[in-house]
Amino acid sequence: MDVRQHQIQPTADGSNTLFMPGLGETYHSKHGALQEALHVFIQAGFHATTTESLRILEIGWGTGLNALLTWAEAHKTQRKVSYTGIEAYPVPWDLAQTMNYPQWVDIDGSAELFEQMHLMPWGEKQELDAHFSLEKQQMLFEEIRFDPQFDMIYFDAFGARVQPWLWEQPIFEKMYAALVDGGVLVTYAAKGSVRRAMIEVGFLVERLPGPPGKREMLRAIKPI
Ligand SMILES: C[S@@+](CC[C@H](N)C(=O)[O-])C[C@H]1O[C@@H](n2cnc3c(N)ncnc32)[C@H](O)[C@@H]1O
Repeated sequence: MDVRQHQIQPTADGSNTLFMPGLGETYHSKHGALQEALHVFIQAGFHATTTESLRILEIGWGTGLNALLTWAEAHKTQRKVSYTGIEAYPVPWDLAQTMNYPQWVDIDGSAELFEQMHLMPWGEKQELDAHFSLEKQQMLFEEIRFDPQFDMIYFDAFGARVQPWLWEQPIFEKMYAALVDGGVLVTYAAKGSVRRAMIEVGFLVERLPGPPGKREMLRAIKPI
């Protein structure tokens, strides 16, 4: 994946995304990058639980939008978040800083925080403030191998049209293994084959209303 080819593209809600001309794919929904992230990962994910602390694994760290919004939510709710982001092809800071994400976060210091998230080293956990620690791991999703240690997974890979193998049983087995009992997996996808693959590995799966432009999304729970 050649990140130097990426182009910044506005989406319907005024927030930007990245477009990959070679694959004809964007990092977020063209109907609204911010709306999609808030709907799928923050409302259906972060707010699906109310525990005081939350260990989140993001599969597809990308531009850091979901991480930034989760930081903001942790700040507002005073919950303590330990966030691990997996990404094989980091977006360089000179590109990421031209996205307009911190402007949507109404908290002092969000621009500095976003920069810190991008410039901190890979493979090292850092406490970014009293409520949020981040560790970015540069690796392929195919190489993920975690014991049960996460309460929540944000699964944000490119769509099945582009990367079909990332929406099949083997990757959901890795996610199942990484979650504690009762752990929650959220994704923007709603395809029947994806839902069936999740059920096949043992998840309890619900269809939820999707973000703008999308009828449904999926939330899966590892049974207790
Ligand atoms: C839909 S985008 C993620 C968007 C991201 N959550 C954000 O807020 O910007 C998918 C991400 O997965 C990464 N990716 C694609 N294939 C991968 C693979 N096999 N292993 C690891 N990362 C991969 C891409 O580089 C991209 O950043």
